[in-house]
Amino acid sequence: MSDLTANAKDLAAGLLDSPQMARRWAHVQGVGQRATELTRTVVPADRDLLVAAAWLHDVGYAPDLVDTGLHSLDGARYLRRNGYPLRLVGLVAHHTCARIEAAERGLADQLAVFPLEEGPLMDALVTADLTVGPRGQRLELAERIEEILHRYPPQSPVHRAIQRAEPLLKAHVRRTLGRLDADEQPAP
Ligand SMILES: [Fe+2]
Repeated sequence: MSDLTANAKDLAAGLLDSPQMARRWAHVQGVGQRATELTRTVVPADRDLLVAAAWLHDVGYAPDLVDTGLHSLDGARYLRRNGYPLRLVGLVAHHTCARIEAAERGLADQLAVFPLEEGPLMDALVTADLTVGPRGQRLELAERIEEILHRYPPQSPVHRAIQRAEPLLKAHVRRTLGRLDADEQPAP
């Protein structure tokens, strides 16, 4: 495990491994594991970054970090304050189409200061988050979206944002799974 990944895992454990956050921590551990399985969908130079971002993507839910209530923004601000690489901070800020929830919460400008990365790395991060459920269990994308819509009431910004983002989220996952399939084809 690289220094960056080990550091990310330790930081996530320090912030989320508590009785109060047991479910969230189970999810994050599952996403970290899932990201490890998806590393072959990104270039070798980005693999550590993918796994580190997976471990850190939900630190903004840690009670000590909650500020705006948009967990991606609160987590990204915390990581920026603590000197994490800007690309990693941007991945956490924007994971799983956070800009759509930011707009629902009136926080679009605050989130937009972080770099929005698009490409295989973001695709893989979103896929890891959306194929692991709230207790760390593996889920299909459709089950995961259904689970989120069920867990948050219709008036919640999370519920509304997931509904609006669904086509984009599906596209992230479709691209990642396509890269996995292509990687599994035997060489001609
Ligand atoms: Fe997550």
